[in-house]
Amino acid sequence: MAQTLLSQTSPELSGTPLLEVHDLGVSFNGLSAVNGLSLSLMPGEVRVLIGANGAGKTTTMDLISGKTKATNGTIRFKGRDITNWTPNQIARAGIGRKFQIPSVFKDLTVAENMQVALCFNPSVFGNLRQCLRRKDRAQIHEILSRVGLEAMSDRPARLLSHGQTQWLEIGMVLAQNPDLVLLDEPTAGMTVQETRKTADIINALRGQHTILVVEHDMTFVRDICHVITVMHQGKKLAEGTVDEIETNPAVLEAYLGG
Ligand SMILES: Nc1ncnc2c1ncn2[C@@H]1O[C@H](COP(=O)(O)OP(=O)(O)O)[C@@H](O)[C@H]1O
Ligand SMILES: [Mg+2]
Repeated sequence: MAQTLLSQTSPELSGTPLLEVHDLGVSFNGLSAVNGLSLSLMPGEVRVLIGANGAGKTTTMDLISGKTKATNGTIRFKGRDITNWTPNQIARAGIGRKFQIPSVFKDLTVAENMQVALCFNPSVFGNLRQCLRRKDRAQIHEILSRVGLEAMSDRPARLLSHGQTQWLEIGMVLAQNPDLVLLDEPTAGMTVQETRKTADIINALRGQHTILVVEHDMTFVRDICHVITVMHQGKKLAEGTVDEIETNPAVLEAYLGG
């Protein structure tokens, strides 16, 4: 699972892409939500997707994770064409979005939530009963420490703050050991400190997972990524470093300037 470590500042991304989206498109009621989008992610990369409301960012995540079927284009992952596979097939192939269950179980402890998530690991699916009996404490502690919740391990999830709940959800995605992690606005509703800590968490995951993040907060974006992809009206408007994007006239006009 471990991927080539890429430094945040390395401009050179070489080798075979983990994810290759080509000419991807989908329409809802005749309106294009995503239209001819091409995107390529290298193993270990953290990529941020930005764009105005309605630009097609969430739909792009839906297409990659199989929640929405593409009407056009292809998605290749680890060299395989996964276009229009079911969400379960895509999860098993190694793309983690959010845990398949809606959210955390509020009455279970943090560690118990992680235990449930481990049991839904697509690679051990089918061994649920066996898994529930097994003690995966080492793995649970390892992941909880990565998302900064080790001290909360025995607390009921309902006592977590909003930010901590988001980190637990990230931990539950990591329990599936995905090669590619999709995070749609992970810092929504977070305080400045929580947002900063989320950047630390993502930075600590760099290299072990490839991560595609939808995000608006440019300070956060600057903290976590090297290359940004900007979407506008379902299409890719620009792609480049944070500095390039922040000074790109088309991006300023369509998004950042406003
Ligand atoms: N299931 C759906 N049915 C109809 N229209 C949708 C659906 N999902 C998204 N859309 C439309 O597609 C466009 C892109 O939405 P979305 O991907 O959610 O944008 P973003 O995440 O960038 O804000 C919007 O115009 C939205 O209204
Ligand atoms: Mg969205």
